[in-house]
Amino acid sequence: MFNKKLEKLLNEQLGMEAQASSAYLAIASWCEINGLEGAAAFFYKQSDEERVHMLKLFRFINERSGHAIMPALTKPTTTFKNIQEIMTLFLSQERKVTESVNKLVYIANQEKDYTTLNFLQWYVSEQHEEETLAKTLLDKIKLIGLQGSGLYLIDKEIGQHASASTQDTAE
Ligand SMILES: [Fe+2]
Ligand SMILES: [Fe+2]
Repeated sequence: MFNKKLEKLLNEQLGMEAQASSAYLAIASWCEINGLEGAAAFFYKQSDEERVHMLKLFRFINERSGHAIMPALTKPTTTFKNIQEIMTLFLSQERKVTESVNKLVYIANQEKDYTTLNFLQWYVSEQHEEETLAKTLLDKIKLIGLQGSGLYLIDKEIGQHASASTQDTAE
């Protein structure tokens, strides 16, 4: 029998991934209309990835005889000051998700639900990667700056972290 407490928390996690997917889609759109092609491709890809994270949770909850529920989402922020603000948001969003994953790991362990614990390991390493990437990109923005050709260079750099296949769908 699937632990009810974990079912509820995994559903909340699913909601966080859905919210992140929607937040990154809104960012991608803003980047796209502001000439930031690289950042647009990057955040379209991030949005897709968050949707995959969400779907993994849907399937896992249901496989365990729980019920995965699509929650209502809040409207994401749709306008931004600049790419530095966006990357700062990205980093803090990812840190929030990491915190939530860590809490889930703690409780799965406490409840001795080792299947869920094992499932969550993927999210633990995923969050480590995402946080590292967000921090690296934010550091580069601070280093290069947004003046003159800086913004162009930054956008190119961010674009390099969007895979070719998703760039195609973003075009
Ligand atoms: Fe995620
Ligand atoms: Fe993420």
